[in-house]
Order: sequence, then structure tokens, then C-alpha cells
Amino acid sequence: MTRTAFSVVVVVLLFIGLSGSVSAGRDLVGDILRLPSEASRFFGRGHGADVADDIDDDSSGTKWAVLIAGSNGYWNYRHQADICHAYQLLKKGGLKDENIIVFMYDDIALNEENPRPGVIINKPDGDDVYEGVPKDYTGEDVTVDNFFAVILGNKTALTGGSGKVVDSGPNDHIFIYYSDHGGPGVLGMPTSPYLYADDLIEVLKKKHASGTYKRLVFYLEACESGSIFEGLLPEGLNIYATTASNAEESSWGTYCPGEDPSPPEEYETCLGDLYSVAWMEDSDKHNLRTETLRDQYRLVKTRTANENSAYGSHVMQYGDIGLSTDSLVWYLGTNPENENSTFVDENSLRPPTKAINQRDADLVHFWDKFRKAPEGSPRKIEAQKQFVEAMSHRMHIDNSVKLIGKLLFGIEKGPEVLNTVRPVGQPLVEDWDCLKTLVRTFETHCGSISQYGMKHMRSFANICNAGIKKDQMAEVSAQACVSIPSGPWSSLHKGFSA
Ligand SMILES: *[C@@H]1O[C@H](CO)[C@@H](O)[C@H](O)[C@H]1NC(C)=O
Ligand SMILES: *[C@@H]1O[C@H](CO)[C@@H](O)[C@H](O)[C@H]1NC(C)=O
Repeated sequence: MTRTAFSVVVVVLLFIGLSGSVSAGRDLVGDILRLPSEASRFFGRGHGADVADDIDDDSSGTKWAVLIAGSNGYWNYRHQADICHAYQLLKKGGLKDENIIVFMYDDIALNEENPRPGVIINKPDGDDVYEGVPKDYTGEDVTVDNFFAVILGNKTALTGGSGKVVDSGPNDHIFIYYSDHGGPGVLGMPTSPYLYADDLIEVLKKKHASGTYKRLVFYLEACESGSIFEGLLPEGLNIYATTASNAEESSWGTYCPGEDPSPPEEYETCLGDLYSVAWMEDSDKHNLRTETLRDQYRLVKTRTANENSAYGSHVMQYGDIGLSTDSLVWYLGTNPENENSTFVDENSLRPPTKAINQRDADLVHFWDKFRKAPEGSPRKIEAQKQFVEAMSHRMHIDNSVKLIGKLLFGIEKGPEVLNTVRPVGQPLVEDWDCLKTLVRTFETHCGSISQYGMKHMRSFANICNAGIKKDQMAEVSAQACVSIPSGPWSSLHKGFSA
């Protein structure tokens, strides 16, 4: 190993160790059942049961689903694997292709890094989940605007893609599942801009106002995913949402190289995400007529916040929590082969012994690739380069944001202002336009925030909350970033992320 390569590896390992221990520092054991945002919304088990009894899932309207992977790149294999798995699950559950709309960049199955060309798996011994997945919106058609147009059933607002939209009626049930990276108030997209929480909530309100669904369930996997709904999703829209994490913590990749269970040796990438595989592997096995959203929420919460390990996140629920007594069959259908596999609390699945912080999963990929590549090979050099680029982008973004905080608020107060977390139940920011403007201003001087930089969205929000305007932000950004770094992660060729 060359000296440079060695120091990169050391830096990366330090980095991974660091984010692991930060997350482990949270008390995952004690506060699982008494998070303040949940306590006041607790509903007893019997609630809504009479409603449940007189609705026959076969005559209660059409079931629709929108599945979206917000990333691309082989190091993000798991998000598209999650989405493909969800498609197979819904298909077995009886939903029709015309009612399942899939967004995926579609650069994984035939990626040159994929050891099984044409195949995608979502767990170590799993079957192919790629076959038959409808390619409704792929590549550069995976955009925020298309996602919103699909939810709203507005065909004229579409650009590219299959033209399939949620053409739903008042009795229909809608299931939306998103998997990707995120940050406070923001979800990633393989294209620019990213998806901001206020815009998503507006779309959901508009969908509700159009009277074109009975109930809508939203499952969301991303870092800080709670922040998308916290203080933002009102009750009364007939929407029930669960998220992989609360508003201020990472979510986790799973089936990663070096974990137990680990992917087959030839895979140098994580195969799934912790929350996502938890709900899907549960749904795969059970008769979903006998399992409620709430049963699943509890099981997934337990599996995702692994009490005996130094990883995990708090799965959360938002919106009309009362809907959680609905059977899953209304949204996911149910596989006839599972008709005798009734849900009981004990049959939860074995959690893995380790998981990877979502934000470090790309580094794990580059590291595993580097480790396995033959000494002196072009592949080894490429992996090393990928490491260095990812690491230097991280350092550039972290340092620039920190410095901007100090320039705006002073050496001591800077970090304090940037890291302030608002009380539970309050949205991240009052003025979302300010947030987006400041992100664009930062990117103008410092380059793209990219996937990793979404973690700093709370800092940008706090700068807005402190009353800083665009001009001041431009001035300090120009001071902090003399030029835009040349690495691919900083490139603005796709446009601003806000
Ligand atoms: C559909 O989208 C188009 C184009 O964005 C817009 O002009 C129109 O108002 C939308 N229709 C509805 C019903 O929202
Ligand atoms: C479920 O159990 C019933 C009664 O034992 C049996 O007739 C049926 O074939 C079983 N279904 C499946 C899918 O195994």
C-alpha cells in the first residue's frame, strides 16, 4: 500500500468510527417508548376497530402506490434495491402494475460494478427483485416535479417518463414509499433540485383538497427523516406517515460489507437500509389482513433501534396516528401464500449485529473496493481516487459551513447557533424560501452541497432563523470559499440543489 493510500484509509476509518460513536452516544434504549412527539398522540389498540371491521379490502376502492429511490450511483445500490423489493411485495399482494408507479434512476442492475448483471438483491440470500419492475420514471426523469405531478395525478405537468400517474378516486388508498439520503428538511434526488419538506407538505395538502383519496400512508427512509413531517404534517388530512429516524439523527444502511449477516463476498456495497428491510421483510412473511400499521410500526421500531448495539435510529410516526389501526392489506395488499401466517408480536425478525450510518455507506463501498482490488491495479487506483474525492468534499463542506457560522456569529457563538435544535414539534425553519435562497447562495461560492452536504441543512435553517439575509450570506460565503473545488462532488453541472 502506498503511503497516501494508507493515510486515506486511516482517515476513513477514523471517520467511520467517529460517526458511529456519535450516534451510539444517543440513548436508544431508554426513550424508545416515550418520545415527547408521540406521547400526546397515543391511541389505544381498540380505536378504529369498528371502522376496520366493516371495510372489505376488495371493495374499498383501488390501491395505488408510488415508489421512489432518490439516489443514483453504485455506492447507493441499496435505495434502488429497497424500491424494487417494495414493488415485488405489492405485486404479490395483488396490486396491479397500472397502479404502481416506480421512480428509479436504473443505473444499478447493469452497472459495471454489479457482480450479477441484470439482477438486484435486497438481502444476502435474497432472490432477484429487479425482474418485472416497471420503468416509469428513470434516469433524468426522476425529478421532484415529476414526483409531485404523479402524486397529484397531473399528466400535463410531467416531463418524460411513462405518463403513469396516481389517477385516484375518493375511495382509494395510496401508499408512498421513498428511500434515499436526506438531511433536516430535505430529501435527496438523483437530479437537481432536491426535495424540500415544505413543498412535499403542500402537495399532500393539495392532494387532500382534491378529494382523490380516502387514506394515504407514507413510509420514509432517509437521514433526519422525521424533520420532513415534524411540525409540518397536520392532522386531518387522512395521512399516516412513519419515518426511519427522528428529526435529528441518521438512518442506517444494512447488509453491508463486514457486517453479520454480510452480503455475498463479491458485493462491495450495502444491500438494503435498516428501516426499509425491517418493514418489507415483515410484510413478506405475514398475512397482512391480520397485521395493522401499528403492529408493523412497533416491530420496525424495535428492529431499527437495536437495543444491544451501537447503532440504530428512532422510527417515528406522524399525521393521523388513528389510522394506524388499519390493516396493512388496505395499502400493501397481501400475498395469498401467507394466509396462514398470522402476525403475532413474537415473530419479529432477528436484527443484524451491525449497521452502517447511511452517510458513511459510500465510503464503505470505496474502501471495500480498494481493499479487494489487486495491488497496483487500475481498479485500486480508481478506488483510492474515489475515497480521496469523497473525503475532501466532506472536509471542504464541513469546514466552509463552520467558518461561515464563525464569520456570521463570532468564534464562540457560531457553532452554537449552527447546531441549535428547535424543540420537538417545531418545524426546522419558518421561512423556507430563505432556506433555499441561502443554499443557492452557499453553492454559488462553495460548490454543490451534494449528498453528504444535506446534513448541514439545519445550519442553513438556523442562519435563516437568526435573520441573516442573502447579501450577508453571499459575503461570508465568498470569504469562506475562495473558489469552488474541482472535485466531482462540488460540481454544479446539475444545477443548484435548492
Ligand atoms: C397541472 O400542471 C399544469 C402545469 O404545471 C398546471 O398549469 C395546472 O394548473 C395543473 N393542474 C392542476 C389540476 O393542478
Ligand atoms: C391454510 O390453512 C388451510 C387450513 O389448514 C389450508 O386449507 C390452506 O391450504 C392453507 N393455505 C396455505 C396457503 O398454505
